[in-house]
Amino acid sequence: MLADKAEDFRTIWLSPDDESVVQIIDQRLLPHEYCIHDLRTWQDGVEAISDMYVRGAPLIGATAAWSLYLASLRADDTQAEIDTAADALLKSRPTAVNLRWAVERVLDRLRSASGAAEVTSLARREAENICDEDIEISRGIGDHGLQLIEAIAAKKNGEPVNVLTHCNAGSLATINWGTATAPIYFAHQKGINVHVWVDETRPRNQGSQLTAWELAANGVPHTLIVDNAGGHLMQHGKVDLVITGTDRTTRCGDVANKIGTYLKALAAHDNEIPFYVALPSTTIDWSCRDGVAEIPIEERDPSEVTDIYGVSNGKTMHVRTTASDTPVSNFAFDVTPARLVTGLITERGVCDASEAGLLKLFPENSDA
Ligand code: MRU
Repeated sequence: MLADKAEDFRTIWLSPDDESVVQIIDQRLLPHEYCIHDLRTWQDGVEAISDMYVRGAPLIGATAAWSLYLASLRADDTQAEIDTAADALLKSRPTAVNLRWAVERVLDRLRSASGAAEVTSLARREAENICDEDIEISRGIGDHGLQLIEAIAAKKNGEPVNVLTHCNAGSLATINWGTATAPIYFAHQKGINVHVWVDETRPRNQGSQLTAWELAANGVPHTLIVDNAGGHLMQHGKVDLVITGTDRTTRCGDVANKIGTYLKALAAHDNEIPFYVALPSTTIDWSCRDGVAEIPIEERDPSEVTDIYGVSNGKTMHVRTTASDTPVSNFAFDVTPARLVTGLITERGVCDASEAGLLKLFPENSDA
């Protein structure tokens, strides 16, 4: 990672030179360019989320929290500005529930504030808390998921444990460590021979452009595959475990994640390969039961399907790969039903993908 130590990596932070500026990594440009981007207004935050400078459920939530802090800085009528910003943020990406969670958490915190200065200081503290807590949550997921990898490693006599992952549920999707990748990083740090099959993850290629980049930066052995290769690898005994992230998990354990996750779960089920989903509890939508029926699935711009981002002769560019008039549909997420999920890896432990399993770990939500 581009910090001296993996521990110090962060995906969003307050500028050390100017407390009215929040800084992010512009993930649209990776792995070819590493650019820090300044957010100066809440509108910059909305743009960063909707245009995917930042992405991944926990980081989207954190960016929304910091955007409310920015809203508090630049307004004559602070409350009206924060309400307008909150509305726009809530609409910026529909599937990841951490966005709503983070916005509501900051708004709740600000209810007791009196005066603009207090609003700003509380908004800042809440955004900082959300980020600090997210790192601890990822550590918890890492510790619990590590035990699953250790159990498989114990049966493999030093042969690599092959983990397949989809999209980027890594450090770049969170504040640090990731969700699906945290167990992998912890296993690698512990000296376990772990190898990752990285799904390319069309259309935006979060696997080839983000997951492969961050695994390389952390020295984790990995191999990039096209999205359609997973079933073949599973049939030939080359996958021991699948771990993905999720953008929204229902109270019954259905998981919405990057488009194509459902197909990986079906292939894993057919080949009796454990399929785990790693998630912070901030990703659970306790108000939702049936993921297929209730979770809104974002449809994104057709250009993500028709165009590819890459580098040629040292210059980065987008290239259209289709005829100019090809009709396109671009659903960004799908829902994997709980029955295909072996277990959920959370910061409090691993549980069945079911209401009973989740409530055992998070009993405070039984009436939610
Ligand atoms: O469209 P994206 O890149 O925001 O989608 C992200 C994913 O699907 C991740 O796997 C998910 O958010 C989990 S992030 C820890």
